[in-house]
Amino acid sequence: MNQTERETRNAFIAAVPKAELHLHIEGSLEPDMMFALARRNGVDLPYATVEDVRAAYRFSNLQEFLDLYYLGMGALIEERDFYELTLAYLERAHADSVRHVEIFFDPQGHTQRGVAFDTAISGIVRALEDGEERFGISWKLIMCFLRHLSEEAAFETLEEAQPWLDRIAGVGLDSSEVGHPPEKFARVFARCRELGLKLVAHAGEEGPPDYVWQALDTLKIDRIDHGNRALEDEALTDRLVQEGHTLTVCPLSNLKLCVIDDIADSPVKRMLDRGIKATVNSDDPSYFGGYINDNYRAVADALDMSVEDMATLAINSFEGSFLDEATIAQRRAEVEAVLKRHAGL
Ligand code: HPA
Ligand code: ZN
Repeated sequence: MNQTERETRNAFIAAVPKAELHLHIEGSLEPDMMFALARRNGVDLPYATVEDVRAAYRFSNLQEFLDLYYLGMGALIEERDFYELTLAYLERAHADSVRHVEIFFDPQGHTQRGVAFDTAISGIVRALEDGEERFGISWKLIMCFLRHLSEEAAFETLEEAQPWLDRIAGVGLDSSEVGHPPEKFARVFARCRELGLKLVAHAGEEGPPDYVWQALDTLKIDRIDHGNRALEDEALTDRLVQEGHTLTVCPLSNLKLCVIDDIADSPVKRMLDRGIKATVNSDDPSYFGGYINDNYRAVADALDMSVEDMATLAINSFEGSFLDEATIAQRRAEVEAVLKRHAGL
C-alpha cells in the first residue's frame, strides 16, 4: 500500500460512521481531568504531575492496569464528575464519527469507596442524554460486575440497579479474569436474562478458551468482549463463526496489557478472514493511548488492511450492537455510502 492509498484509507476511517461496543467510561478519564477533579474534590493522588500519571501507564498484565484504573477512578466523587467524564468521552467519540455507543460502567468501583450507585449512574445517564441531543450519538448502558468480587456482591449491585433498569440495556463482567471464571456468575446472569437484560462478558483476554466456552454455554451471553484466546481452540472458533457471535476486540489495549507482543499480532484480521464478526474498540482509551480511530488505524497499518476491511469492521460494529434491526440497516447503508464515495476517489 503506497502513501496515497494509506491516506485514502485513513480518511475513510475518520469519516465512516461506527459504533463503539467496548468502552469502560472510567477508562476514558484523561490525566488532566483526573487532576482537576481530584483538586476540586480534595482527593489525594499519588502523582505530582500529569506527566507522572502518563509515565505510570506501563503495564505488563491486566492486573497492573486494573490497580491504576481503580486508583484513578477515586477522583470521581460527585454526580457532575460522572457527567463531565461521560460528556468528554462523547465529544471525543463524535470527532471519530462514532454514531452509537454501548458503554460499560463499574458501579462497584464506586460503591466500594462510598460513592452511591445513584450518583454514578445519574451523571452518566444525564451526559448520554445530552450527548445524544448534542452529537446525535445513540447509546446503550451496560452495567459490569467486578468478577474479583463475590456473587453475593453482584446480586447486591443488581438490587441497587432496580430503579434504573429502564436505562440499563445489559450487564457485563470485567476486572481480573484469571481465577474468576464466568461460571462464578451463572446465577446472577440467569437472573439478569429473566429481567430482559442483554448479557456480555470479558472472556479470553488473559483467560483460557474454556472461559469463552463458559461465557457461551453457562452465561449464555449475547456478545463476547475481547475473545482473543478463542482462536487457540479450533472447535470454539468454528462455533463462533457458525453462530455468528460478535467479538469486541481492543487492539491497543491488547498491546498495552501484553496480551500481544506487537500490534501486528492483533487477531482482528485473522478473525475477519476466518468469518468471525470482529469489531474494533478502545477499551480504556486514556490508559491505552488511543481512541477508536487510533485503534482502527493501528490494525490497518500493521496488518495491511484495506478500506473494505475497515468498512466490514464498521458494519460489524452496528450489526453486533443492541440497536433495533431498522436502525442497523440504516447505519449499514450509511457505511456503504461512505465506502462508495471513497471507492470513487
Ligand atoms: N479487562 C478487564 N477488566 C477491565 C478492562 C479490561 O480490559 N478494562 C476495564 N476493566
Ligand atoms: Zn474491557
